[in-house]
Amino acid sequence: MSKDDVVRVYYRNVMARAVGAEHGLESEQLDGLAGRIGEIVEQIEEGRARGERRYRELPYDESMIQAVEAACAVRRGKYDNLVVLGIGGSALGNIALQTALNSPTYNLLPNAQRRGPRLFVMDNVDPVQFGALLDLLDDELDRTCFNVITKSGETAETAGQFIIVRDWLRRRVGACGARDRILVTTDAEAGTMRKIVEDEGYDALPVPDGVGGRFSVLSPVGLFSAAMCGIDVRRLLAGAAMMDLRVRNPELRKNPAALLAAVHHLLMQRGKNLHVMMPYSYQLKDLADWYRQLWAESLGKRRSLDGRDVFAGATPIRALGATDQHSQVQLYREGPNDKVMTMLAVERFERDVSIPEEFGEVDALSYLGNKSLGQLLDAERQATEQALLASHRPVLTVLFPRVCEETVGQFIYLYECATSIMGLLMNVNAYDQPAVELGKQYTFALMGRADGQEEARQLQAKLQIEPAYRV
Ligand code: PA5
Repeated sequence: MSKDDVVRVYYRNVMARAVGAEHGLESEQLDGLAGRIGEIVEQIEEGRARGERRYRELPYDESMIQAVEAACAVRRGKYDNLVVLGIGGSALGNIALQTALNSPTYNLLPNAQRRGPRLFVMDNVDPVQFGALLDLLDDELDRTCFNVITKSGETAETAGQFIIVRDWLRRRVGACGARDRILVTTDAEAGTMRKIVEDEGYDALPVPDGVGGRFSVLSPVGLFSAAMCGIDVRRLLAGAAMMDLRVRNPELRKNPAALLAAVHHLLMQRGKNLHVMMPYSYQLKDLADWYRQLWAESLGKRRSLDGRDVFAGATPIRALGATDQHSQVQLYREGPNDKVMTMLAVERFERDVSIPEEFGEVDALSYLGNKSLGQLLDAERQATEQALLASHRPVLTVLFPRVCEETVGQFIYLYECATSIMGLLMNVNAYDQPAVELGKQYTFALMGRADGQEEARQLQAKLQIEPAYRV
C-alpha cells in the first residue's frame, strides 16, 4: 500500500476559530475529553483481548479470507449475474463496496468487459422491484447465482426472497441445480438458515461469531460479492488493518476515530444532533448510506448501559455533493444550526473529464473552459464548506487521497471504531437493536406465524381504518 493512501480526518472547521464560540469547540474542550477518550480506547482494547468486539479482528482472519476466496474460485467464470438477498447490515455494505470500487456503469457493461458477474443487491421486498428482477433474469437463470445473507436466519424479507428464488430455481433447473446456484452466508452454528443449509446441502460461508450485522461488511457478508465482482478484498482488509494501528492509540489527537467521536459528542451537548454525511464523490455515496445505518442503529437507544431511560441518539443524514447543494444546502446554511456536516473529499479522482474551451465570448460560461469536472466538483465542495462556515455551521472533512480498496477499508474501520467509542461516550450499547424487534414480531404476527396468533388478533383490531379520520 502506498504511504500516501492514508485517510485523514480534518477537524479545524468544527473549532470555535472557524465557526465562532457559540457553535464551535475550543481546544480546551477537546483536551477536557481526552482523558475519558483514552480510557475508552484502552477499555475497548482490553475487551478485544478478552474476545469482545470481534469485528476488530476481521482484517487479520486469514481462514475467513481463504474461505471467501475458495467460494469465489468455484464460481468465477460460471455466472453472469450474482444476486444478493439480504437487508440492513446484510446488504448495505455490499452495495457500498460495489459503488465505491467498481465503475458506475458496471452492470451495463458487456460480460467480457466486467471483472465479474453483474451484481444485484435486493434489500427490499417490493414486489414490483423484485418481480422486475425475476423477469430480467428469467432467460439467464442458468448463468445466475444467489448469495442469501442472513445472520439470524429468520429475517422475513430475506426469508421471503429466498423461498421465491428456491422455488423458481427448483422448477427451472431442478433441486440440484438450485442447490448449486445458492450460497448462504449465515451464522456458523445456530438459526433457521443454518438448519436449512444442512438439510438441503447448500454451500455456506459463516458470519463470524460475535460480529453484528452492521459491523459485518469486512466479513464474508460483504467480502464474497465484492470478491466475485473483482474487488481486491485483501487490499480492503489491509486498509482496515492500517486504520486499526491508528485507532488503537489512546491519544485523542492521534486517533481519528476518537476524534470523530469526541467532536460529535461535544457538539451533541450543544444540541447538534443531526449528522449529515455529504460525499463529494459518486463512488462514496453508498458508504454514506452504510454509515447512516451504523450510526442510527448503534447509537439510537432508549436505555443507558446502566438501565436508565436516556432516549439517546443522533440522526444521521445522507447527502451528495454537488447534487444536494441544489436541494439541501439552503436548509443547512439558514435553517436551525443543529447539524454537524461531514464532507467526504477525494484528492485525486480515478479519472477526470475535461471541459472544452467553448463560448469564449460568454462570461457566464467561458470560465469553465479548460477546467475539468473533478476541479469543478472539488471547487463546489470547498465553496460549500466556506459558505457553511460563513453561517457558523461546523464542518468535518474526511479526506480520501483517492478511492481505492485500501482507503475504503480504512474508512469502514474508522467509522466502525468511532461508533464503538461513541457508544461508550454516550453510555449506550452500540451492538444491539431492541427497538427493531417489536416491528419484526408484529410482522410475523400479521403474516400468520404460529407463535403470533394472539398478537395478530390484537393488531387486526387496531388496524381497522376509522372512516372519521380518512380525508
Ligand atoms: O445491523 C443489524 O444487525 C441489522 O441491520 C441486520 O443486519 C438486519 O436486520 C438483517 O438481519 P439478518 O442478517 O439477521 O437477516
